Amino acid sequence: MPSLKDTIISSMVNGPDVLLDRMVGTRNGRDYAADRFQTRDIINKIHPQRLYLKVLEITNETNIAKTIRLISTNGYLPVFQAGQYINIFIEIDGIRTSRPYSISSSPKQRAYYEITVAKIPAGFISDYFLDKVKIGDVFKANGPAGTFHYNPIFHKRKSVFLAGGSGITPFMSMTKEIVESGADREIHLIYGSRSEDIAIFNDELTKLGKTHSNFNYHLVLSEPNKDCKCKTGFIDDKCIKELIGNVNDYTFYLCGPQIMTDFCMKALQLLNTPHNHIRREVFGSRQDIQNEEGWPKELIGNETFKITIGDKVINAKANESILTSLERENIRINVCCRSGECSLCRIKLISGKVFMPRGVALRLTDTKFGYIHSCKAYPISNVEIRL
Ligand SMILES: Cc1cc2nc3c(=O)[nH]c(=O)nc-3n(C[C@H](O)[C@H](O)[C@H](O)COP(=O)(O)OP(=O)(O)OC[C@H]3O[C@@H](n4cnc5c(N)ncnc54)[C@H](O)[C@@H]3O)c2cc1C
Ligand code: FES
Repeated sequence: MPSLKDTIISSMVNGPDVLLDRMVGTRNGRDYAADRFQTRDIINKIHPQRLYLKVLEITNETNIAKTIRLISTNGYLPVFQAGQYINIFIEIDGIRTSRPYSISSSPKQRAYYEITVAKIPAGFISDYFLDKVKIGDVFKANGPAGTFHYNPIFHKRKSVFLAGGSGITPFMSMTKEIVESGADREIHLIYGSRSEDIAIFNDELTKLGKTHSNFNYHLVLSEPNKDCKCKTGFIDDKCIKELIGNVNDYTFYLCGPQIMTDFCMKALQLLNTPHNHIRREVFGSRQDIQNEEGWPKELIGNETFKITIGDKVINAKANESILTSLERENIRINVCCRSGECSLCRIKLISGKVFMPRGVALRLTDTKFGYIHSCKAYPISNVEIRL
């Protein structure tokens, strides 16, 4: 028969863990529970589960991109690796959602983080950041997270950064870190933009290219002006070869919209770049998911299906992720990367069919037992799920 104290403890959050600790501790003549809480306190201080970030400054980078400087309102900002992102929660018209943004500032200082948000056609949260955000606003966030960063054990000393549009942001952080620390690394940053006036950080990167011999900056414009002196066209195999020479010497990092990273992946394949020399970060799901490889031909994307969750039934558009449909109905689940990678938004598919594009990092056991990543799963029939 458990004591009254044990009964009360077991009803508390983490109560069963505490009881297990006590049991093991009693057997070994030691109380591990106290250590466990102390460790958790320290971890929470170093890397809190939730960040509260206040807007300190807003800078126009181009007429369609802004940098937002954020400071912490609850302790100091966690350490991060250049290339990682934070996931910012936001509530608009009663709908709570979130979007990940790469940190564009240097990890060498943590008085603030900066994110740089660019406009996209038919944007939702990006429009909010560009048009409505003001100094003093406070956002909840999680992270820093993500695996898109330099790893000195596996990656080469020489790197090529291939960026498209807003995909320049993690590279800004990586570049600043390298030049500020005087690291013994050699970088080629190849940045694809439509025109010079919307190339984010162009002046700063041009200057860094002139002042640091190990940093080479190449702007490639697809819709150049008549008097343009940059390289023109797209970042294809010929362009890469011409700018860097032998691809085998480098680790490649690709970041930008899916269309751009798919295009660059093909270019690297044509150059026979080994797969393990390529790291890739895709900025968000494509809005025309119905054009993705493998999408069922009989659907055009604007169909509506039912999602059953316990005794609740909601409507969902085929071309919106299940996560977005849940958020529209104010049903909240854990989320971080929104790109199929972190697995925080995992749900069980009980019945029905979903479309999941390539690149979703499902585990073998997920596939076997019917788990899906709701941020990258699109309903293509009525479905039943469990959260
Ligand atoms: C790891 C990572 C890092 C990123 N870093 C950056 C960065 O540094 N800079 C940057 O600019 N971008 C970055 N992005 C992209 C960014 O997260 C957003 O996808 C981008 O800003 C566009 O957001 P959006 O809401 O405007 O558009 P989308 O994310 O394309 O969302 C539009 C979608 O929102 C949904 N929606 C529209 N209206 C509503 C509504 N009323 N209620 C509910 N849902 C609705 C619809 O499904 C619509 O298709 C990053 C993405 C990832 C994955
Ligand atoms: S939020 Fe990371 S996999 Fe869906």
